[in-house]
Amino acid sequence: MADFRLEDIVSLMKRRGFAFPSSEIYGGWEAAYDFGPLGAELLRNLRNSWWTFFVHKQPNIVSLDGAIISHPHVWEASGHVESFSDVMVEDTMTHKRYRADHLLEEAGVHADGMTPEEIDAQIQEHDLKSPDGNILSKARTFKLLVEVSVGTLENEKEIAYLRGETCQPMFYNFKLVKDTMRLKLPFGIAQIGKAFRNEIKVGPFIFRTREFEQIELEMFCKPEDVDEWFGKLKDMSRAWLSTLKVTDDKLRFRDQDFKERAHYNKVATDLEYEFPFGWKEFQGIHNRGDWDLRRHQEFSGQDLSYKGEEDEEAFFPHVAEYSIGLNRLMLVVMCDAYHQDEKRTWLALHPRIAPYKAAIFQLVRNKDEIVAKARSVFTQLTMTGLHVAWDARGNIGKRYLSQDEIGTPLCITIDYQTLEDETVTVRDRDTMKQERIKIQELKKYFENLLGI
Ligand code: GAP
Repeated sequence: MADFRLEDIVSLMKRRGFAFPSSEIYGGWEAAYDFGPLGAELLRNLRNSWWTFFVHKQPNIVSLDGAIISHPHVWEASGHVESFSDVMVEDTMTHKRYRADHLLEEAGVHADGMTPEEIDAQIQEHDLKSPDGNILSKARTFKLLVEVSVGTLENEKEIAYLRGETCQPMFYNFKLVKDTMRLKLPFGIAQIGKAFRNEIKVGPFIFRTREFEQIELEMFCKPEDVDEWFGKLKDMSRAWLSTLKVTDDKLRFRDQDFKERAHYNKVATDLEYEFPFGWKEFQGIHNRGDWDLRRHQEFSGQDLSYKGEEDEEAFFPHVAEYSIGLNRLMLVVMCDAYHQDEKRTWLALHPRIAPYKAAIFQLVRNKDEIVAKARSVFTQLTMTGLHVAWDARGNIGKRYLSQDEIGTPLCITIDYQTLEDETVTVRDRDTMKQERIKIQELKKYFENLLGI
């Protein structure tokens, strides 16, 4: 288990501009967060790293950016209107609502997939009360799709849904993407974007929220190849996390049992991380079979089958899905990178995802040549596309501590010697070791550091 608490991460993320409770000047808005300057950079770097690995470096994966509010029939076809729900119980005194499976889990009962009646029976058997010690209501199902009413005329507004998972546009656009890009099986469609769920229980922190971001990849393949793709996605998933140096021992796959699985899944495995609050899922690999294409064909009346040159008959491709929550992933990398000792706190983020790749310091503020030289090194690096911080506050020691805390891999100091021999001091965030490097070698140094 970690030797720090989630509160340490929450406090650092707020203090240093990674994540703030949303609408804080209005007293906050439950379970919503805004990502500040450094959080936005970290998220962008995670998206880019994922995209390079899973899309640009693959021969057969293309991208999509679908609508958040689509035709309401999409969500009927996908089965979400009917089946996407959790079972909820209410404290009869305080009227606070809880996810029944979470309350039962705390009492040691594995309740995934139980019906409201089965849950009522378990609550009775274990004489379960609410966290405030009050009697609980009867269990009932609670729809997770967030409804929106769309239209300009009050009495002609239509009920639609904010998407409950980002992948549906990849299914209902299957044929358009295949034909416009002239794709042959197997091929994948990837998308990053926001999803929304009316979660009963939210938290801790950004782990479970009602608005969140997903990165999803749908691999369409022949039915007989879906198990192979399921395995490949598992391997790719671990391979990518290892490029970010996420601690291997803190990751594990856990297969979902029949009752846990979503209505569209034939097989599902969760990738879990050991957070300070225990092992929790942050990613899933799913075998969705032909559920989505078949259902969209049925509901739309359009042909979504596939027939390659070598196929005798048309068939529905099967789908192996990779789905990761970006905000949960952010929490994974923050927890994994968090280090502290008696002298300092530092985030050992992989340089590729660190908000700043380096910070430039001038040794003294009152020597014009040093300031000018520091500015020129800063400009030189930013012109190569590197996101670099300019830090001229306090003394050098304080600047080191401040940059360590936000995960800046290198601090580069321009001093008197720089004016003589064009070298700078480069100090490493993790080892705190310093070395002198020629300014003209910095570009190469960064290329090695970032693996480009
Ligand atoms: N398309 C498949 C799908 O949506 P899921 O297991 O429901 O599968 C995938 O969600 C991932 O999305 C989860 O592993 C988690 O990381 C993230 N996720 C789901 N609900 C979330 C929520 N309320 N808040 C934050 N992340 C969430």
